[in-house]
Amino acid sequence: MRLPLIVGNWKMYNTKVMAVNLVEGILQKIAQPHDREIVVCPPFTALDSVFRVIKDTCIKLGAQDIYWENEGAYTGEISPAMLVDAGCAYVIIGHSERRKYFYEVDKTVNNKIKAALLHNLMPIVCVGESLEIREKGETKSFVVSQIKEGLANITSSEALKIVIAYEPIWAIGTGKNDSPQSANDTILEIRNALTDLWGYEVSQKIRILYGGSVKPENIDGFMREKEIDGALVGGASLKVDSFTRIINFE
Ligand code: PGA
Repeated sequence: MRLPLIVGNWKMYNTKVMAVNLVEGILQKIAQPHDREIVVCPPFTALDSVFRVIKDTCIKLGAQDIYWENEGAYTGEISPAMLVDAGCAYVIIGHSERRKYFYEVDKTVNNKIKAALLHNLMPIVCVGESLEIREKGETKSFVVSQIKEGLANITSSEALKIVIAYEPIWAIGTGKNDSPQSANDTILEIRNALTDLWGYEVSQKIRILYGGSVKPENIDGFMREKEIDGALVGGASLKVDSFTRIINFE
C-alpha cells in the first residue's frame, strides 16, 4: 500500500505573511489525516515562517529546488543542509520550469537527487513531455529516458525515499489537464522503468504523482486510478478552499 501524497508547489508566490495566512487557513480546514500525506513548498524566503506554523502538525515542508554542494562560493544557491536547517523534509527537483528557464538537464537533476538523499531530504523528481513530443507520439520513450538518466547510479534503498511526479508540460498552468486514464498509462510506463532499474518489489513501493492543472473538479478522477499515488498541485494550492478540497479527495 502506497500512502497517497498531495504536494502544493507555491512557485514564486507569497510573501512571509501571505504564506503563513495560507497555511494557517489550510490547517483550520483539514482534519489531521492519517491515510494521506500533505506537503507544502513555499518559496525559500517563507520556508522558516511556514515551518514555525506547521512543525507540530500533519503538514510537512518542502523546498522547490536545491544545489548539490554542501557550501561554497555559489552565489544565489541553497544547500541541502540549509534546507534541512529550515525544516524541509522534501524537495522538488527537475521541475519543468527549472528545465525550461534555468537550463536544468538530467545530469544536474541526478546531482541534486543524490545531494538531497545524502541529507535525508526526500526528492520529488519531476518528468514530463512537451506538446511537440506528445504529438509525435513519443511521450513514453521521452519520460522513460528522463527517469533513467535522472535516476542513474542510485541504489534501491535510496530509491525507496524518492517520489516521482509525472507532469506533462502542456498541462502545467494551462487549465488543460491530462485525462486520468492517459496519465495512468504513462505512469505505468514510468513504474515499469523503475522495475528495470531496481526490480519489481521496489518499483511497487515508489510513489508516482500526477501534476498539471489538478483542481477540485478533477482530483477524485486521478486518485481513482491504480497507478496514481497523489498530486503535485500548482495554481490550485494557492487558495485554501481549492487545496483543502484536493487534500480531501475521495
Ligand atoms: P499547475 O502546476 O497545477 O498550476 O498546473 C503544477 C506544477 O507546476 O507542479
